[in-house]
Amino acid sequence: MNYYGVFGNPIAHSKSPLIHRLFAEQSGLQLSYEPLLAPLDGFTEAVSEFFRNGSGANITVPFKEQAFALADQLSERAQRAKAVNTLKKLEDGSLFGDNTDGAGLVNDLLNNHVQIANKSILVLGAGGAVRGILEPLLAQNPKEVCIVNRTVEKAEQLAREFTDLGPMTACGYDWIDAPVDIIINGTSASLSGDLPPLANTLVKAGDTLCYDMMYSKHTTVFNQWAQQQGAALTLDGLGMLVEQAAEAFYVWTGVRPNAAPVLQALRAQL
Ligand code: ATR
Repeated sequence: MNYYGVFGNPIAHSKSPLIHRLFAEQSGLQLSYEPLLAPLDGFTEAVSEFFRNGSGANITVPFKEQAFALADQLSERAQRAKAVNTLKKLEDGSLFGDNTDGAGLVNDLLNNHVQIANKSILVLGAGGAVRGILEPLLAQNPKEVCIVNRTVEKAEQLAREFTDLGPMTACGYDWIDAPVDIIINGTSASLSGDLPPLANTLVKAGDTLCYDMMYSKHTTVFNQWAQQQGAALTLDGLGMLVEQAAEAFYVWTGVRPNAAPVLQALRAQL
C-alpha cells in the first residue's frame, strides 16, 4: 500500500481525499489518501514523520511556502511559484517539490475549449494564488498578460519576475477599461463576497471568458458580475481544484486520471 495525504491547517473540509480516492478507484490503484492536520508551528516535523512511510503529499494553506523551502529538488514551475503543493518521495528518500496549481487552471481552461494562445488576459490579484499560475499560463503563449492589483507595486514586482517567460504588464484597476479576451480572478475578494473595482467595459459581450479561481455552491460575486456584463462563458475554480489534483496524481503514479467524472461528482455534492 502507498500512503498519500494532504497537509493543511485547517484540513477537515478538504476535498482532496475524496478526489484522490476517486482517482485511485478509477485507475485500479491501491492507495490510501488522508487529511493530515499539521500544527501551525510544526509543519516540518509532521512532514518528516509522514514520509517515513508516505509516498507523496499535497500541501495547502498555510504551508505551501514552507513546503517550497524544505523540498530537496524543485520543478521549474515550483521554483517560479515559490510555493509547493505536491511533494513526492524519490527513491533515494529525498523530496521532490512541484506546483500543479497552474497546470490545473490551464487544463480546466483547455477542457472548456478556451483558447489561451494569442489571447489578451487580465489576471486580478498579485498574491500567492496568482504567482502559482503564471508559469503554466505564459507557457500557452498568450498575446499579453496584465496583472491587475489594488497595490500596484505587487503587480509590478510579479510582472518583472515573469517577464522573461512572456509579455507581461502590470496596472491598477482604474487604469484599464479596454475589453479583453480572458479575465481570471485570482484575488481573495470572492472569499468575503467582494468584487474588485472593475470597469464594466472590460467584458466584451458574447466574447470575453471570465474565470474565478474560487468556487462555491452558488455563482461567485465575480462570475455574477461577469454574467451581468454578458460574458461568453463564466467558470469557477472547482475544475481547477480537480485538475491540479489530477496533475499531482500523475506526478506521483505516472497515471493521468480522467478529471471529468470526478468534477461532476464534486459539483453534485456542493
Ligand atoms: P492568496 O494566497 O490567496 O493569493 P494573498 O497573497 O493574501 O492571498 O493575496 C490576496 C490578493 O487578493 C492580493 O492581490 C489582494 O490585493 P492587495 O495586494 O492589493 O491587497 C487581493 N484582494 C483581496 N481582497 C481584495 C478586494 N476586495 N479587491 C481587490 N483585490 C483584493
